[in-house]
Amino acid sequence: MPNYREHPYDVLVIGAGGAGLRAAIEAASTGASVGIVCKSLLGKAHTVMAEGGVAAALANVDERDGWRVHFADTMRGGQYLSQPRMAEIHAQEAPDRVRELEAWGALFDRTQEGRILQRNFGGHKYPRLAHVGDRTGLEMIRTLQDHGIHQGIEVHMECTVTTLLKDGERIAGAFGYDRERGRFMVFPAKAVIVATGGVGRAFRITSNSWEYTGDGHSLAYHAGAELIDMEFVQFHPTGMVWPPSVKGILVTEGVRGEGGVLKNTEGRRFMFDDIPELYRNQTAADPEEGWRYTQGDRDANRPPELLTRDHVARCIVREIKEGRGTEHGGVFLDIAWIKERLPNAEEHIKRKLPSMYHQFRELAGIDITKVPMEVGPTTHYIMGGIRVDAETQMSTVEGLFAAGECAAGLHGANRLGGNSLSDLLVFGKRAGEYAARFAAERATESYPKEQAEAAAAAALEPLDGHTSQGQNPYKLQSDLQDVMQDGVGIVRKEDEMKEALRRIDRLRRRAANVSVPGNREYNNGWHTALDLEHLLTVSEAIARSALGRPESRGAQFREDYPEKDAELGKLNTVVWRGADGEMQVRFDPVPELSEEQKKIIEENQ
Ligand code: FUM
Repeated sequence: MPNYREHPYDVLVIGAGGAGLRAAIEAASTGASVGIVCKSLLGKAHTVMAEGGVAAALANVDERDGWRVHFADTMRGGQYLSQPRMAEIHAQEAPDRVRELEAWGALFDRTQEGRILQRNFGGHKYPRLAHVGDRTGLEMIRTLQDHGIHQGIEVHMECTVTTLLKDGERIAGAFGYDRERGRFMVFPAKAVIVATGGVGRAFRITSNSWEYTGDGHSLAYHAGAELIDMEFVQFHPTGMVWPPSVKGILVTEGVRGEGGVLKNTEGRRFMFDDIPELYRNQTAADPEEGWRYTQGDRDANRPPELLTRDHVARCIVREIKEGRGTEHGGVFLDIAWIKERLPNAEEHIKRKLPSMYHQFRELAGIDITKVPMEVGPTTHYIMGGIRVDAETQMSTVEGLFAAGECAAGLHGANRLGGNSLSDLLVFGKRAGEYAARFAAERATESYPKEQAEAAAAAALEPLDGHTSQGQNPYKLQSDLQDVMQDGVGIVRKEDEMKEALRRIDRLRRRAANVSVPGNREYNNGWHTALDLEHLLTVSEAIARSALGRPESRGAQFREDYPEKDAELGKLNTVVWRGADGEMQVRFDPVPELSEEQKKIIEENQ
């Protein structure tokens, strides 16, 4: 057994984005010893890619807003597959979590009266997104980090966890390595919180950076936890499409919240062509009405560019497929047009969307205050993930908690923009609180040594006896991205998904022979090889779940089953690892709405 160092904690948090940091802060506030392990540098997290705002019914801009409306919007947006209790807790607690963040130093944009300013976003009935220009996630991470470092939390940066350790049925810690030197580390822990974010790197076009290889989903799955709703992958409608080197980088929904419109190459606002039934009574019939809404006219309806992301993304794909897309495979997103209406438009755009202004100027050489952007869908988020208890965030494995993107239940079939940031605050706090409580009831943090030894041996396999006949990890990752993008992407079909599953299986067999030159120090090829198991696991879970749901709902669009199926609309997909090691799929009923919840939904149609 190679040497390794032990770092024992009451509560171990894996992942240091918004959810991980918020969980760690809460756990530490109870007096528990807390360690955070993060794959990258502290502060570098996908949380910063939620640019346009955090959703919370503060009712600062429209006093008709409140947690009930937010709850109803979230349920409708998720096409009624969300866990109702999670949606309720989320809507009720989000305002306090945002105010708390402000008390910790977050500097939100302000209304004229000095209250936190809120903007429009897709699927939210009222202006609800508290924001800091288009850098909201960044400000949140900065605030949580500044607050967190004073709580006595130990941070292990640039460390990757490869395996969770268990003592019988209970979680007992984690095994990992530091990326710089390749030294092995064991984190014995009484409770573990997984907050590793998403799976975007399983696809070719994504807003996610290199860290997002589905680690938490896969670690939990292999430790015996159930995953739910893995078919629901969010393709954000607007990512950059040109130049090729920046394809997939996010273009915030805040652009549309500030009045940006989508047009095809015929110059037509195609979003007016198809308004889904669920949103007909809230969507503007013409551009004039949509603009009045953007300017705060309370009697006007929302422009169709602010329909939910699943729908907007599909409309964009339709325009491109039918030959009305740009030469680079996108459509136009135009914020410059507001010059026709606002005297200070240029300054307004630069103030409200500073990152977008710089992003396009630096990366694409265009000035968005003057010309439209070219945009297309990009893999952004996964609604599916680790099944957790709504109150405590504990998974189906004792002592294993999850929060943020890698946990599931709040967003159902489609997440509303801005609900990810409120999700990670609300449920990050809860995960920290309940994990610390769980740890306080446990005596020691012992773990079976042979599991750590097995994890070390498995981690060294790609380096052992390197041969040129071995499989290249970069090539395997890239091949998998092609399989997922082409076979299990925005538009899905049974035969293509079956083929994708066959190809995933072949890739898995190739991955068993992955081989990298060099040693454990500074070896990115080795790191890529160790990510493969996670990527293959989440890809298989997505493909099997998508194949198992023969209907179109939310983020899943099946060309062969274009309609919703009423029965499937009452079921969550569940994936788990069977006794034979094979992935299993079943459907469980969505928990029933209480009478009060039904009433709220009816009142807020
Ligand atoms: O478009 C955005 O700013 C992304 C927000 C989100 O994913 O919540």
